[in-house]
Amino acid sequence: MKTSGKLKGAGSAKNRRQVTEYQLGGGKIVVIDGFMSNAEAVTMSNYFDHKDFSRSMADGPKTETVKQWVFNFSKKELKGFEEKMIRDEITTYFGYKKFKIQTAICNSFAYGDASFIHVDSYKSKPCVTALMFANAEWKKDWGGEIMFFNDDDDAVYAVTPKPGRLLLFHGFIKHRAGVPSRHCYESRRTFVIKYLP
Ligand SMILES: [Fe+2]
Repeated sequence: MKTSGKLKGAGSAKNRRQVTEYQLGGGKIVVIDGFMSNAEAVTMSNYFDHKDFSRSMADGPKTETVKQWVFNFSKKELKGFEEKMIRDEITTYFGYKKFKIQTAICNSFAYGDASFIHVDSYKSKPCVTALMFANAEWKKDWGGEIMFFNDDDDAVYAVTPKPGRLLLFHGFIKHRAGVPSRHCYESRRTFVIKYLP
């Protein structure tokens, strides 16, 4: 993906667009397949291949000592992504009309890394988290599914990493990033933007 380009082709006829919605804990999870074409997913993957990740982010204050690999976007760099297409999807499915970007990062998990159940926001000030799987390919036995949990910490939904897929969810729904299996030699990367209304 060119940093000065657009997320071209998202939802175009050549992509098989399919939208699936789930309800959980008073919030919503929306999975949009075909948001990006395969070629765009490859471009995005290549883009992150050349970025410097640092082990600098934790899932929350209780796991502050377990840092995860992350690339933080500067405002200038994020501008090039023309993420308006993501905002349009959020307006459609979540009703947000105004947006403030809380965080824009790319996460990277490899086999052996740790992730924890957490929330991205509280119900009183709910963000919508937008997540794009930023690998050019993902094999079915590589694992790495993001898990969603109910208030009792029981796993309810899993969403498989899939190139071209956009995942949107209310940030107050408990979730945990998926760590790839031992059979996977790739890092599972996700491009994540958290939007406040
Ligand atoms: Fe999160």
